[in-house]
Amino acid sequence: MKFFIDTANLDEIKEAYDLGVLDGVTTNPSLMAKEGISGSENITAHYKAICGIVDNNVSAEVIATDFENIVKEGKELAKIDDKIVVKVPMIKDGVKAIKYFTSEGIRTNCTLVFSPGQAILAAKAGASYLSPFIGRLDDISHDGLALIEQIVEIYDNYGFTTEILAASVRHTMHLVQCAEIGADVVTCPLKVITGLLNHPLTDIGLEKFLADHKKVNG
Ligand code: G3P
Repeated sequence: MKFFIDTANLDEIKEAYDLGVLDGVTTNPSLMAKEGISGSENITAHYKAICGIVDNNVSAEVIATDFENIVKEGKELAKIDDKIVVKVPMIKDGVKAIKYFTSEGIRTNCTLVFSPGQAILAAKAGASYLSPFIGRLDDISHDGLALIEQIVEIYDNYGFTTEILAASVRHTMHLVQCAEIGADVVTCPLKVITGLLNHPLTDIGLEKFLADHKKVNG
């Protein structure tokens, strides 16, 4: 299972990378805006900085929504670094663009996926990654994890190679349940990754080991 961090914050990306378990980064226009990154030069420089931290898989999202401009923008993003994966929304022109990028050897991440039908389309177009947003489905009383389960089954039925990248992951149990179901990748905030470390029995156990050691060793 791959771990991606879902942020454009360089300090958080460094912290997750230093833990030694990070396989990539996903960004989106909202996350870039949260860091105050604007203007094409600054955006490019920021993606370069992210690529300088991690080994691979940096999703950079297009803003365009028509085929020609998605292709133009995606090619520019892909030129920044070999680590870039072009993130394209699940819309008609997006699917066409994913097919085009696939034929050009440019990796893609199909984003804003909320149904199994959308997942089939993206896989048929050759998307490298598929991003179903599980938290946003839960927010509207749908079952985000059930969608992941459906997509795993469908992709297994046909041997689709598109990797299922569970996105909008909000807490550690989302991540653990994605692992049980068989999502290929999860992308989540830093606190979800570091949250996996926590167990009160670990803390109590460590305290006792150290206290017992101190009793005889001073
Ligand atoms: O990157 C897309 C996705 O992970 C967004 O998550 O929490 O804004 O629904 P969220």
